[in-house]
Amino acid sequence: MPIVDNIRAIRWEDHQLYLLDQRLLPQQEIWLQLGDYREVAVAITQMVVRGAPAIGVTAAYAMALAAQEMRQFSDWQQRLAGAAAEIKAARPTAVNLAWATDRQLTLAQGERAADRAAALLLQAAHDLLEQDIADNQQMGRHGAALLPEQGGILTHCNTGSLATGGYGTALGVIRAGISAGKQLQVYADETRPWLQGARLTAWELQKDGIPFHLNADSAAAYLMQQGLIQAVIVGADRIAANGDAANKIGTYSLAVLAQYHQIPFYVAAPLSTVDFAMPAGEGIIIEERPDSEVRQCAGHDVAPAGVKVRNPAFDVTPAALITAIITEKGVARPDYLHSLANLRG
Ligand code: MRU
Repeated sequence: MPIVDNIRAIRWEDHQLYLLDQRLLPQQEIWLQLGDYREVAVAITQMVVRGAPAIGVTAAYAMALAAQEMRQFSDWQQRLAGAAAEIKAARPTAVNLAWATDRQLTLAQGERAADRAAALLLQAAHDLLEQDIADNQQMGRHGAALLPEQGGILTHCNTGSLATGGYGTALGVIRAGISAGKQLQVYADETRPWLQGARLTAWELQKDGIPFHLNADSAAAYLMQQGLIQAVIVGADRIAANGDAANKIGTYSLAVLAQYHQIPFYVAAPLSTVDFAMPAGEGIIIEERPDSEVRQCAGHDVAPAGVKVRNPAFDVTPAALITAIITEKGVARPDYLHSLANLRG
C-alpha cells in the first residue's frame, strides 16, 4: 500500500531557515523564520525542533548562518569555532548535534576564503538534509524485512519526518513495511512528559494515513501481555560503540518488557547517531529537563506546588536487550562492537 510522505519540518528559503514549531503541534502549524545562528541554537534548546537527525540538520544550517555572519571579520575562522561551541551546547545527548556541527567546522577550516566557506557550508547543509532523507528510506528498506507480515508494532517518542530531515528512522521502517504491503498496526506511546507520541507521532501518522492507536506509556506491558505487539521499534539519540543506545526516557523499560514477553526490540538510527568514540552507554550524558514538564500537563499543574521532580529526558538501553540495530548501511546484530564497526567500514 503506497503511503503518503508529505511532512517536512525544516526548509531553507530566501537566506533564512524555517522550522515548523513542534512545541505548538498538533493545535497550530506555525513556521518560525530564523536568520541568526544564535536563534537556531535557542530553537534547539527549546524543542522547536527535536529528534536527533533533525537536530543535526538544523545545526548544519546554524553553522551556515554563522559562516555568513562571520565572513566580514578577518578572524572569521576563530569566530566560527566560537559559534560551533555555542550551537553544540544547545542539547547534550543527541550526538548528531556535535557530529553535524563539527563536520561543518572542519569543512570551513579547509577553506581560506570566507565567502567560499559560507557558500560551501550552505551547500553542505542542503546536502545533509537530502542525504538524511535518502538514508532513512534506505534504513526503511533494510528494516521492513524484519517486521512481521501483520501485527502490532509498538513505538516510543516521535521518530518520523518531524524528527529527521524527512521519512523518519523507526517510523520510516514502519512506513516502508506498510508500503511493502505488510498489515501493520502501530501502537504509539504517548511519551510523557513532553508527549512527543501524543502530540507529534499521532499528528504525523494521522496526516500520512498510517493506522495506529495512541496508548498511555503505562499500557505497554498490558498490550504485550494481550499478544497485540509483535515488535518494538524505537530511534536513538546516541549509540555507544558497544550498542548501548540512549533514547527517549521510557525506552529502557520497553526493552525490559519486550525481553520478558519474548518480543523483538529494534533500534533504527543512521550511523551518524553511533558515537564510535563512546565505548559504552554509561558515558552518555543524559539531559535533565525543567521540572515544569513533569509537574504540569498541557500547561496545567497536575502535582502539588513545590514538589521535587526528576526529569531525565533519556535513558540508555543496554545492548544485550537490543535484537538488532537498523542503519542505512544494513542491519547490525550482536556483538555490536564488531557489527557496527563493520557497517561503518
Ligand atoms: O527529546 P527529543 O524529542 O529530541 O527526543 C527524541 C528521541 O528520543 C528520538 O527517539 C530520537 O531522537 C530518534 S529520532 C529519529
